[in-house]
This record gives sequence, structure tokens and C-alpha cells, in this order.
Amino acid sequence: MSIIKVHDKEFQPYIGAEELQLRIKEIAAQISKDLAGEKPLFIAILNGSFMFAADVFKYLDIEAEISFIKLVSYKGTKSTGNVVTSIGLDEDLYGRTVVILEDIVDTGKTLNMFLPQLHHQQPKKLLIAALLTKPEALTYPINIDYLGFSVPNKFLLGYGLDYDGLGRNLPQIYQLIEQ
Ligand code: HPA
Ligand code: MG
Repeated sequence: MSIIKVHDKEFQPYIGAEELQLRIKEIAAQISKDLAGEKPLFIAILNGSFMFAADVFKYLDIEAEISFIKLVSYKGTKSTGNVVTSIGLDEDLYGRTVVILEDIVDTGKTLNMFLPQLHHQQPKKLLIAALLTKPEALTYPINIDYLGFSVPNKFLLGYGLDYDGLGRNLPQIYQLIEQ
């Protein structure tokens, strides 16, 4: 088994590159079937989803658009608590079929705070495609329409996911070895 070290921690292979690609092809095929003729707009949430987004998008065989956004959270007022806003969303979502692309839905907190802003623009449909989710960590209700893998609540690395900035370029997913 090929263990890798990133910063101060060791990681072991968890989901291989081929398995990832096979699952992503299945997701893209399902989306192509479900959304044929709707010219969906995909919204990829940076940074983590860039690899997943690129692969889903290239395996689609329908007409579709893609846009990339960053979510930024900041402290609001006392009454609003933490606020999440997006940078880079120029498209009008009114009447569109929209598919959010996320690398991982962990607690669901950020998406839970952000989705109402998208609903506010009255898209025809608002769907979520996530490569990974950690059911044990999920504390906000997020309905994932297209899911790659359900994983245990352990830290993952690779295929867009980073540990303190590193590891995003790995073509497979690794899991932290807890000491
Ligand atoms: N790894 C990297 N980034 C993350 C994770 C993870 O397991 N969960 C949420 N962001
Ligand atoms: Mg990160």
C-alpha cells in the first residue's frame, strides 16, 4: 500500500482513480438522461470541486453551461450570524435548471446558508451533485440529488480536496491515517 505524506500527516489510498472515473461517468449519464433538453447550468463551487466539475462536465452528452463560484463566509450582524455570499455568479438563474457541483458535503452548513440565495432567483430546478458526503458529519439538511460516495467521518485528501493547500492534484482520494 502506497502511503503518502503531506505536511505532517500520513494518508492511505481510499478511492482509486479508476473507481472515481467510473462513478463520475455513471453520474454524468444519469444527469444527461434526467436533464436532456433543459440546457442546465452547472455551478461548480471552488476550490475543491474543480476536478469533479471538469470530469462530470466532460462526460455529459447534453447541451449544458458551466460557471464557477467561490463561497465566502463572514461574520454578519448579531441577528444574522454568519453570512455566506458568492463571488463570480453572473448568470441569471430565473427559470433555469441549475445543478450545483460540490466536492464534499460535510456538515452541510455552508450550502444550507447559501442555497436560499439561489432559490431566491427562482430557478426552475435546483439540484445538487456531490462527489462525497459524510453522513455522520451532516448537521444541516441537504438533499443530494446525485451522489458519488458516502464516506465515514474521516479526513480525505486528493482529487480537489486539500490538506492546508496541498494534495488537490492527486488523481485518487486518500484517507488520513489517525495516529
Ligand atoms: N478533506 C478536505 N477538505 C474537506 C474535507 C475533507 O475530508 N471535508 C470538508 N472539507
Ligand atoms: Mg480545504
